[in-house]
Parts: sequence; C-alpha cells; structure tokens
Amino acid sequence: MTGRALKATRQPSPPPHRRGGGKDLLTIGAIPASRIVRLLRSARELKTMRQRGLPHHYLTGTTLGLLFEKPSTRTRVSFEAGINQLGGKSLFLSATDIQLCRGESIADTARVLSRYLDALVIRTDDHATVEEWARQATIPVINGLTDLCHPCQGLSDLFTIREKKGALNGVKLAYVGDGNNVANSLIEGAAKMGMAISLGCPSGYEPDQRIVDVARVEAEHTGGSIELGENPQVAVKEADAVYTDVWVSMGREREQSRRLKALAPYQLNERLLKYARPDAIVMHCLPAYRGQEITAAVLDGPQSVVLDQAENRLHMQKAILVEWLGCGTRRTGGR
Ligand code: CP
Ligand code: NVA
Repeated sequence: MTGRALKATRQPSPPPHRRGGGKDLLTIGAIPASRIVRLLRSARELKTMRQRGLPHHYLTGTTLGLLFEKPSTRTRVSFEAGINQLGGKSLFLSATDIQLCRGESIADTARVLSRYLDALVIRTDDHATVEEWARQATIPVINGLTDLCHPCQGLSDLFTIREKKGALNGVKLAYVGDGNNVANSLIEGAAKMGMAISLGCPSGYEPDQRIVDVARVEAEHTGGSIELGENPQVAVKEADAVYTDVWVSMGREREQSRRLKALAPYQLNERLLKYARPDAIVMHCLPAYRGQEITAAVLDGPQSVVLDQAENRLHMQKAILVEWLGCGTRRTGGR
C-alpha cells in the first residue's frame, strides 16, 4: 500500500449525512456506487494494515450490538473481531435472551438500544423486520442477512472478485442454484459495478423479480448486464467467477426434499465448471454442503477461493463500520 493510501485511510471521512449516504445498510441497491467504490478501497487498506500489523483503532470507544435470530459463524465472528481490531467493543444479543422474546416491541427495543450502542447488526427472517429496526433506531442498522438479501456478503464478494480478477467492470459472474438472499445481493452489487451477472436457477427458485428489475435499470447506466435462465451450463459459459450457495437456506428446512430434487441439476461440479473460463474462480459464501450444491472436488479444488472469500468478510465489514460509524455519525438523533 502506498503512503498516500495509508494517509487517506487515517483521515477521518466526513459523516454520511454530509455525503448523501443513508443511516443504515439494508441492501446494496440502496448504496450509491461511489460509496461502494470507497468501501472497496477502504477494505483493501484495512486488509493491508492488518497484514502489516499497523494499528487502525478508528472506532475507539464505540460499541456494536449484534442481534441475531438465526445461527451465524462468519458474520458474527467477523463483525465481533472487526470492531475489536478497530478499537471498539461488541455486544452479542441473542433474541431469546432479551425482552423481545417476551413481546417487547421492536420500536421500544430499538429506541432503548440506540441510547446504549453506536450501531446494530441484525440477522432476521423477514426483510420488513430489519426495515422496522432501521426506522425505529436512531443509530445505524446493518443488515446481517434477511430472507431477501445479504448485503455484507455481497459487498465482501465484490472485494474478493476485484482482488482476484483485478477489476469488476466487465467481469462475468455466474451464479447457479437457488436464487436466494445471496443471489439477490450479488445481482444488486454486480449491477452497481458494471459486471455481467448470469444466473442459472430452476423455475420456482428464481431471484427476487423486483431486485432484478431495479438492477437491470441500474445496469443500463453502468454497462453491466443481468441474464436469467434455467440452464446452468449457459449461465456458467465463459464466466470469470462461478458462485453457488446452499439449496436449503436457514428457515427453509421444511422444503428440504422438494428443494434437493429441484436443484440437483444445478450442482457445481467439475463437469459444470469446465464451461467457465479456465482461470475462473469458484465462490461460495459458506456454510457449504459438499455433495449437494457443490462437490468436494470443486469446493476444495485449485480454483476455489472460498477461504479468502470468508476472510474478506472481516476486511469489508471493518470498512463498513468505519464508513458508517466513523467521525461524528455516532451520538446523532435521540440522544
Ligand atoms: N456466509 C455467512 O454469512 O455465514 P454465516 O451464516 O456463518 O454468518
Ligand atoms: N442462503 C443462506 C446464506 C447463509 C449465509 C441462508 O440464508 O441460509
């Protein structure tokens, strides 16, 4: 990293309200492309700082709350480790331990927590729930996954693709399997960054149509494209990155047998991967189920970048925290 880049990261950035950014991070679609570009740069600088052992305590004195209604390994641990590395502290709140589980409203909980904390990461089912948290809280609310989307994953994945492929604009990303929350965020991110995204999903398991429609409009301005189809080979053809995710997302367990049957032709295996470019990278947000959506040979094979991808959650989420909490965004509203 150049001295200039280091200096740039050390400069406190102006608070989002002066940059026209939103208080919350609920979807990638709502983030201006310029802010995504800044996040990508900041994540790279923060990663270099960590690799070089340079201190980067930009968020000393802040407390990040994490309220998770679903299990998590990567999101929880990378946010908790990330805020620690930035000099702040984290507080994990299990939805079954706080009064929410006894019927206290989101409105009351959000307004009270806003008096104690500097930001909240929420993982929940219904996207409308995280929107309600964002409306009620006076502090930034970060979406740590809903049924609709997984923006922190999508932003981290943009960072990984750029790191591995040297660019985003013009890069072809293929996604095969269930058109789920991760697929929706990848569509939004790809459209913002001028990428060509091509999805192969069976009928009934397509990504969210509203997200696709909005992303197509966005892509017209960025030079990106969004192709949707049922054929996994067509989706993967000549791709620079091939991505898949679980067939049974959290909360969909009752649909397991139907899903395994419908999605079986979409397994990411060596045969399917041959349709991609020879230097294509293989991506998966993890957790993965070897033998279902991806074979062990591909997940653990030479083209797989899944561990770097998981590591990059840490660096991108630190960039998100610095961007949303840095310099004066704390202690606003309701205090
Ligand atoms: N990829 C991801 O979000 O993993 P976790 O469910 O473990 O947080
Ligand atoms: N689509 C998966 C992502 C897990 C990180 C799920 O929602 O369970």
